[in-house]
Amino acid sequence: MKDQAEQLRNLANVAWAERARAMSAGTRASRIIAISSGKGGVGKTNVVVNVALAMARQNRRVLILDADLGLANIDVVMGLAPRFNLQHVISGQKNIREVVVEAGNGVQVISGGSGLADLANLSDAQRDALIGSLAELESMVDVLLVDTGAGIGPNVLQFILAAQELIIVTTPEPTAITDAYSLIKVVSRLSNDVTLRLLVNQVRTAQEAEDITNNITGVARRFLHLEVGSYGSLPYDSFLIKAVRRQMPVMVAYPNSPATYAFHALAARIWNEEPPALESRPGILNFFRRVVRPGDWDGRRNG
Ligand SMILES: Nc1ncnc2c1ncn2[C@@H]1O[C@H](COP(=O)(O)OP(=O)(O)OP(=O)(O)O)[C@@H](O)[C@H]1O
Ligand SMILES: [Mg+2]
Repeated sequence: MKDQAEQLRNLANVAWAERARAMSAGTRASRIIAISSGKGGVGKTNVVVNVALAMARQNRRVLILDADLGLANIDVVMGLAPRFNLQHVISGQKNIREVVVEAGNGVQVISGGSGLADLANLSDAQRDALIGSLAELESMVDVLLVDTGAGIGPNVLQFILAAQELIIVTTPEPTAITDAYSLIKVVSRLSNDVTLRLLVNQVRTAQEAEDITNNITGVARRFLHLEVGSYGSLPYDSFLIKAVRRQMPVMVAYPNSPATYAFHALAARIWNEEPPALESRPGILNFFRRVVRPGDWDGRRNG
């Protein structure tokens, strides 16, 4: 057991060295983007799945982490049924490659499953085993998209703070807007190095999206002294609803729908957006280190 932990620690060190080499050679380290919302049911999972597909079509290697502890999410929208999740990696039953599911079209998915519920309570050996096995992912992925649950629970925040890039999804509904603002406020209190960007989903007019964006970013600037960026909006589209009923991503089911066009544009916009500086990007290994050791990272504000 001790030998195995030792071995995994070595593996992790090798991955660190590889990463350091990549960084000094100017290679782009994986981007890690959490997609969250204050209120549930606003469209996070559909955003994650369709942005992933659009990025994959641009030849990016995309991995989705389903970090929602609630009901199965990604599986439903993609029509997948992953048999294994991170719990199996933690318990040593599976290695990471056996848990990654090929979702087709160049997208891979990992289910957090019950393994995410108490990441913070792992033993040192379990933690080392998990981190060691996740190190393998670093060289396999350009973008990791993390579908978190809704709200401001510790588990959601853990992923957001570890990721450092956050897309906050809201809809024009007043409760979704106030809950989005609450999430922004909580994140800003905990860390000053998360890049936040707002995305307004299910909008009926461009003006509506603009008003909501100006409202939220304006309030954040005034009361939190925080710059919240914007990824614009996505239209309300009945094709998306039909696609969900068919358990297919709208991109696949309805390639010419308004939502599909908007997702292509959004993916390009996300990819072209200046990512956080390479030195401050966590990389996949460091991301998971932070997730399993909440409180360990820098940049936390006191109080
Ligand atoms: N652009 C859109 N146009 C029309 N309906 C939409 C759109 N986006 C989402 N929806 C509707 O909202 C539902 C919920 O979407 P989704 O599951 O992606 O939300 P979520 O934020 O991941 O929810 P949860 O918080 O439960 O994980 C979809 O099944 C669909 O009916
Ligand atoms: Mg969801």
